[in-house]
Amino acid sequence: MSVEKTLATAELGFGASMDRLFELLRIPSISTDPAYKAQCQQAADWLVKELSSLGFDVAARPTGGHPMVVAHYKSKMATSKTPHVLFYGHYDVQPVDPVELWHTKPFEPTLKTDERGVKRIYGRGTADDKGQLMTFVEAAHAWIKTTGTLPINATFLIEGEEESGSPSLLPFLRANKKELSCDVAYVCDTNMWDEKTPAITTRLRGLVHEEITITSPSIDLHSGMYGGAAMNPIRALSKLIAALHDKNGRVTIPGFYSGVAELPKPVKKQWASLKFSEKKFLGAVGLKSAAGEKGRSVIELIWSRPTAEVNGIWGGYTGTGGKTVIPSKAHAKLTFRLVGKQNPKSVLAAFQRFAKKQMPKDAVITFSGHGGGSPASEISESNVYIKKSSAALKAEFKKEAVLMGSGGSIPIVRSFKDILGMDSVLVGFGLNDDAIHSPNEKYNVSSFERGIKSWVRIMGALSE
Ligand code: BES
Ligand code: MN
Repeated sequence: MSVEKTLATAELGFGASMDRLFELLRIPSISTDPAYKAQCQQAADWLVKELSSLGFDVAARPTGGHPMVVAHYKSKMATSKTPHVLFYGHYDVQPVDPVELWHTKPFEPTLKTDERGVKRIYGRGTADDKGQLMTFVEAAHAWIKTTGTLPINATFLIEGEEESGSPSLLPFLRANKKELSCDVAYVCDTNMWDEKTPAITTRLRGLVHEEITITSPSIDLHSGMYGGAAMNPIRALSKLIAALHDKNGRVTIPGFYSGVAELPKPVKKQWASLKFSEKKFLGAVGLKSAAGEKGRSVIELIWSRPTAEVNGIWGGYTGTGGKTVIPSKAHAKLTFRLVGKQNPKSVLAAFQRFAKKQMPKDAVITFSGHGGGSPASEISESNVYIKKSSAALKAEFKKEAVLMGSGGSIPIVRSFKDILGMDSVLVGFGLNDDAIHSPNEKYNVSSFERGIKSWVRIMGALSE
């Protein structure tokens, strides 16, 4: 009964929900760039104001980096059986560059309707993760407006460092273990199966970063005076990068696949039954064939296989015109996506050994990754909260939710389990074409609206 009423409130108030989302989207809270520290604080403060107006006990808690927004709500309908549920999202966003490729200003959210009548909100953070986190904030808004309370006891944890690897997260979870340990965590930072089909994500890959510098001559050299005699660090870097994969797309670092298991047969079968169109998925981004390990499906490659990826390389002269130089240094940033029991530290160590071995004479490699990293997470599909949430999603979308994997990483999921002993249910409303981390990021208005309504239903279902 109250679920239906609350859904009606959410529908009526949807315009105001959009306005609030747009306010948050206008704050350029780029966590990876120290120049935006104040803006990260501003986004945290905005959330504090919003949640406190709903009656949450909330604060932006300082950390070594950007603040953590922690908000608690004790249900006025609570009985001893009412669960305490944590909801997680992140208010920080990725950098906007290359900014010249945006069709609208990244921090001026813009509503556009396409030929099919599909409405989308364009801007950095629309899908990752402000639009998503606002779905549960707005659901709470609708519940409180309709019934004067939430139907469950809730804690909202909204982080500001997800896009920079969550450096403050572990100490924060450890220091506030008792306060943050709930019956279950809901994480809203993943995708739907497609525009019409909801999904619950049960696997995420882990991630570890590395940064390398190769130095050959001690200073930049004239490439005529020294060319042929001096080792060029870009040549050494290219050799290393080229050696990372064999001709079958397999990573060649010795020991890299330790802890990576083959998929259980039933999982393989379920994935095969999903009717995933590789052609469409790759075609949408201008590609024709999968570049990973040969003989594996695209879904398998993304959801269950590890990667060694170069995210950027630089060195030497890249300005206009030519310059005849042998540079002193060359650099690269790499990331490794991890699966199964792969250990971030061991993977880094294996890479470093491998990289040193690849260096020709007079090329010295140094490593300046910040260590850390997080292993992959897997959530049991028989979890009772997954069952309840599937039913609620089905009621909203009139379609069964797909249990799926994801290639992305959300380090907190693993920490919730390891530190707080808490399982996570990953329910999100993003789509593959949202262009997260890319120019022209967008979130469909239908994702936002049905996301809010889905949380209204899930919160209701959890109170029963
Ligand atoms: N929301 C993403 C992860 C994601 C993307 C999950 C797509 C499911 C589908 C998250 O915010 C993210 O981008 N995480 C980073 C990790 C971080 C340590 C930089 C990632 O995966 O690159
Ligand atoms: Mn992200």
